[in-house]
Amino acid sequence: MIVLGIETTCDETAAAIVSRDADGRGQILSNVVLSQTDEHAAFGGVVPEIAARAHVEVLDLLIARALDEAQCDLSAVDGIAAAAGPGLIGGVIVGLTTAKALALVNRTPLIAVNHLEAHALTARLTDGVDFPYCLFLASGGHTQIVAVRGVGDYVLLGNTMDDAIGEAFDKTAKLLGLPYPGGPQVEQEAKRGDPNRFALPRPLHGRREPDFSLSGLKTALRVEAERIAPINDRDVADLCASFQQAIVDLIYDRLRMGLRVFAERYGVPNALVAAGGVAANQAVRGVLQRLATQAGIQLVVPPPALCTDNGAMIAWAGAERLAAGLTDQLDVAPRARWPL
Ligand code: KG4
Ligand code: ZN
Repeated sequence: MIVLGIETTCDETAAAIVSRDADGRGQILSNVVLSQTDEHAAFGGVVPEIAARAHVEVLDLLIARALDEAQCDLSAVDGIAAAAGPGLIGGVIVGLTTAKALALVNRTPLIAVNHLEAHALTARLTDGVDFPYCLFLASGGHTQIVAVRGVGDYVLLGNTMDDAIGEAFDKTAKLLGLPYPGGPQVEQEAKRGDPNRFALPRPLHGRREPDFSLSGLKTALRVEAERIAPINDRDVADLCASFQQAIVDLIYDRLRMGLRVFAERYGVPNALVAAGGVAANQAVRGVLQRLATQAGIQLVVPPPALCTDNGAMIAWAGAERLAAGLTDQLDVAPRARWPL
């Protein structure tokens, strides 16, 4: 089966063609992504109105290119999938409406995919991971620990009560005058900094529920930066290193708890799977590996291009749903909020 996937929930416009064989093995036939980072950089974050307009401008071309690269005609496509949320509603409307039009004209099933579900299922496309597994999703908008038990069967074990981890990285960068998007910049600075210079809090440390809270850490970092102002190069590196160390410690504590809750409820997971842009961070990867090794399970981190937002993950989630007979009607609504 061949599925077209469309992603427009944030600042990446993406389209991809993915196939899924009878044994459930997937293959990416094309995967085209256009990032709008440059258009938002001047504002230090994603501007929803600019994002929606940019999606409209390029989506048709990207879909044509994805079909072209896959050497595939629209008539050969068995399903048309779009991320129907959660995300910036203007962009979601652009992608879902386009998918509906294509599905209607070509009389092809429509699959309205939850963007988080697509992140959750990517490890099955890249590594053929079997259910059940434990997903750690950490991006600019989400920080979640999820028990992935089957297609359409997801249990949220832990969530952030305020900021997402990627968002905390981005805000740290902004505070310290580093360019957007901040995650990679903070990681770079942290490499030459002293992680013990500033005593930053580890919110919710030791709590039994595997939730996250980042706002106290963010505030503490700002207070430290203001206390020693004006800050020099050395201070920036030390603040980044101390911040990143706090994040790593937090992930270790919270996710260890998440894996424990998982095992109590569903038995030991087949793998620990990471998704979202934060998984690109080497220190974060290190702690994830440590947790997986301690739990005696495999760590699966899809390649960066498939960890961050892309069309292949939407197409693949669409293929998995289509194979399970889960399709949608043309009146399915776009959703700004849509918990798994
Ligand atoms: O998954 P993603 O590309 O987009 C969504 O948010 O959906 O994640 C982007 C987030 C940003 O907040 C970015 O700062 C963070 O992931 N990020 C990183 C790194 N690379 C990207 N955070 C820490 N270290 C990195 N190397
Ligand atoms: Zn995402």
